[in-house]
Amino acid sequence: MKIDILLGLQWGDEGKGKLVDALSPDYDVIARFQGGPNAGHSLEFNNTKHVLHLIPSGIFHPDKLNIIGNGVVIDPAVFKREIDELKPYAGNLTDRLVLSSRANLILPTHRVLDAAYEKKKGGSKIGSTLKGIGPAYTDKAGRSGLRVGDILRKDFRELYKMRVDQHLDILKGYNFEFRLEEFETGWFEGIELMKQFRIINTEYLINKLGSEGKNILAEGAQGTMLDIDFGSYPFVTSSNTISAGACTGLGVSPKNIGEVFGIFKAYCTRVGSGPFPTELEGETGEMLRNTGHEFGATTGRPRRCGWLDLPALKYSIMINGTTQLFMTKADVLSGFEKIRICTSYKVNGKEIDELPYTNDVKIDPVYSEIPGWKQDISGIRNYDKLPDELKNFIRIIEDFCKVPITLVSVGPDREETIFRKI
Ligand code: GDP
Ligand code: IMO
Ligand code: MG
Repeated sequence: MKIDILLGLQWGDEGKGKLVDALSPDYDVIARFQGGPNAGHSLEFNNTKHVLHLIPSGIFHPDKLNIIGNGVVIDPAVFKREIDELKPYAGNLTDRLVLSSRANLILPTHRVLDAAYEKKKGGSKIGSTLKGIGPAYTDKAGRSGLRVGDILRKDFRELYKMRVDQHLDILKGYNFEFRLEEFETGWFEGIELMKQFRIINTEYLINKLGSEGKNILAEGAQGTMLDIDFGSYPFVTSSNTISAGACTGLGVSPKNIGEVFGIFKAYCTRVGSGPFPTELEGETGEMLRNTGHEFGATTGRPRRCGWLDLPALKYSIMINGTTQLFMTKADVLSGFEKIRICTSYKVNGKEIDELPYTNDVKIDPVYSEIPGWKQDISGIRNYDKLPDELKNFIRIIEDFCKVPITLVSVGPDREETIFRKI
């Protein structure tokens, strides 16, 4: 039994949704393992763009089973909205979407707490998506969370009220106005909808399907540089976004992990606060943002843009045990006269060989500059037909990272994908 993992190597939004969808024909099962509706996974086909927040990106393939694993935090209101939006495209999903009974719930008050905490932080705010992620994982770790399986209990309403009262007590210490009823209606509608789905201990199902030889793809959310342990803490999300997160978030053993597909953009983006060594604040950054349509899929916020950061990429590859690299948005770099790649970091004029533990060190990126290419590459489907300058760019990344780039994405549509045999 082998489970492959597809995850982001940068600060999220690398194109995970598009590539999970593009790879789904090769898999029987697609399973999300962490995060929650802070994720926005976009995919396109038949000239239509879809954005998924909770539901795995294999959902548009009618013969695939999709699982929301125990590591995910679910907001029932978002779940309902997403299922409603998917209906015209994906039909009735109750037979091919399964929910883990162990996944924790995001309560309406988690969202309020998220907003109250961020407001209190003022200038040092994390730039959270305000979906209640931090407070929901806090309750999970604090052993006071509610889980999906609990919604089937007769006393669920009482359990809910108990938790909400605890949250309201905390909120008394914050001068923060809110109207809970606005959130609660949709939330309880979502709970009723969730009851129509199979709520089971998905770890048994995944291990059974795996041992029967079914192909399973684990879909990550966010990115390695947002990992709670290895990202730029505290400017991170609240889960383990790395390959190890797939083991804890689905209930599979590390010995059953097969390929680890690490996705990265041909440049970098970041939404929210926190260090970003190669960030471009001027015209070039603006050009990347406009050409790459770099606006958040969940919040619509403009994404910060910068050149490709190889020291950070190599770090992510190490932490994840990445076996294959997938590069997205190569098409966005078309037309740049020169392309820069960060190959090392300097602090106080001295080169450093580890990513610093704290965020208060000023990192000066050291760049290599290479010639760009002019052609529109979005129509190319054969690796050999790519411009030589792009192949040179790819070679530099592979030489630095020592992992092959086996897929190049040249546009948002599922068809705009080049599979490369190595
Ligand atoms: P995810 O969170 O990793 O799934 O990524 P997002 O969906 O948040 O952001 C990626 C954005 O880039 C989406 O708008 C995608 O449609 C788009 N996209 C993905 N791959 C490519 C690509 O190769 N080229 C271009 N131009 N856009 C892409
Ligand atoms: P996908 O799966 C990019 C960022 C937020 C913020 C920090 C913490 O689409 O790649 P949180 O809401 O978790 O409290 O926010 O993490 N963030 C993401 N950035 N893509 C995401 O998901 C993100 N999910 C959270 O902007 O800086
Ligand atoms: Mg996204």
